[in-house]
Amino acid sequence: MKTFYIETFGCQMNFHDSEKVAGTLAALGYREVSRPEQADLVLYNTCSIRDKAEQKVFSRLREHRREGGNGKRFGVLGCVAQQEGERVFERAPHVSLVCGSASYGRLAELVARLEAGERRVTGLELDAESTFETPYTRRENPYRAYITIIEGCDKSCAYCVVPFTRGPERSRMSGAILEEARRLAGEGYTEIQLLGQNVTRYRDPSPAGWDFATLLGRVAEIEGIRRVRFMTSHPRDFVAEIVRAIDANERLCNHVHLPVQSGSTRVLRRMQRLYDREEYLERIAWIKAARRRIAITTDIIVGFPGETEQDFEETLRLLDEVEYDALFSFKYSPRPNTAALALDGQVPEEEKSRRLVILQEKQRSIQLRRNARLVGERQEVLVERYNPATGQWVGHSAENRTVNFTSPGGAADALGGRYVAVRITRAGPNSLVGEWRGEAEGR
Ligand code: 5AD
Ligand code: SF4
Repeated sequence: MKTFYIETFGCQMNFHDSEKVAGTLAALGYREVSRPEQADLVLYNTCSIRDKAEQKVFSRLREHRREGGNGKRFGVLGCVAQQEGERVFERAPHVSLVCGSASYGRLAELVARLEAGERRVTGLELDAESTFETPYTRRENPYRAYITIIEGCDKSCAYCVVPFTRGPERSRMSGAILEEARRLAGEGYTEIQLLGQNVTRYRDPSPAGWDFATLLGRVAEIEGIRRVRFMTSHPRDFVAEIVRAIDANERLCNHVHLPVQSGSTRVLRRMQRLYDREEYLERIAWIKAARRRIAITTDIIVGFPGETEQDFEETLRLLDEVEYDALFSFKYSPRPNTAALALDGQVPEEEKSRRLVILQEKQRSIQLRRNARLVGERQEVLVERYNPATGQWVGHSAENRTVNFTSPGGAADALGGRYVAVRITRAGPNSLVGEWRGEAEGR
């Protein structure tokens, strides 16, 4: 039997793509193995969002450069594949497949050509109308399932490589999404996460013509689904109807990830983000006015070209104003093809590092303060696993906080996959600690 190994870098979209790739290969008669040494086909699903991520795949390929041939094949998938195209073959001559995410619909055909002995096979078309529909998906998480609702991105943020690596926006038919969600509910999944580079741009191509808020409501109505999440939203397209949908159905998780990138309107303009600080704060105000408390998380880039100390201080003030529940922060990394390459005012690396540390320290104290307020509360937790090293169960609250908790019988309680009520007893900056208080009420 033929075997494959796949390693994934990057975002949740990429991880879910790998689940679909693995399902497709399984349908072609391949068996997955856990070490590249054992595989006939070694695949790297790559990320190129920052230079570091891109370098990782080439260092992986160098580790195995002597193993090519003898029927063993290497393939580079995903964002670096799309960005570098045939240059991958020059940088790593033992690679024989280079395929971007917009061409995964043709993966079976490309693999067949490899098997027939072709040395160099590519799937690099970007204008593909089609989305990656596959009846075969090998899912990693037994309780939370990911569903792609929209692929690609039509924005042109000055720092971002994604429009070049994932192509134009393509929404999936609402019928196909609901059918997948119903099937997953039938298989026992209770949490669904809807995925897309910009889910807020979802537009149903079928005659129903649903927008994103409507789709959210419909997915949440499916029998057996207890939690619905979504990732990622763009502030420009984030509308008040989304908050209303969350208000209207408790199964829609009270968590919104709304990347701001910078607190300075001047920097946001240079980034071509299509909103200013005030418009962003208006959306935050909608979210904060919701009936339930909604957790808010964000992404921030420090050291974008031309970012002054004053601009950076505006970002720090934004953290105080919004009080985010979590923050993902990055040093600006110049990427091929992007508009920011032409901007002047590159910020020195040491200065980027200094700003990153200040930003992260500030956020850490905000999270400590926010999490401390939850001590004494009861939270509903979807239990994921038991950690024998600490004697605690690990799961996530609806707001997506990690909760570690003890139960009277420990591992013997077999809580995996259950929804339980946990009383919070302690809070750290990144997680909560608590005690089991019984089954959570159904909803
Ligand atoms: N440099 C640094 N961070 C970046 N991001 C996207 N492009 C870059 C870049 N060139 C960050 C943004 C985005 C997150 C996924 O990665 O904050 O929201
Ligand atoms: Fe990385 Fe962006 Fe591609 Fe995701 S879409 S893998 S974050 S470059």
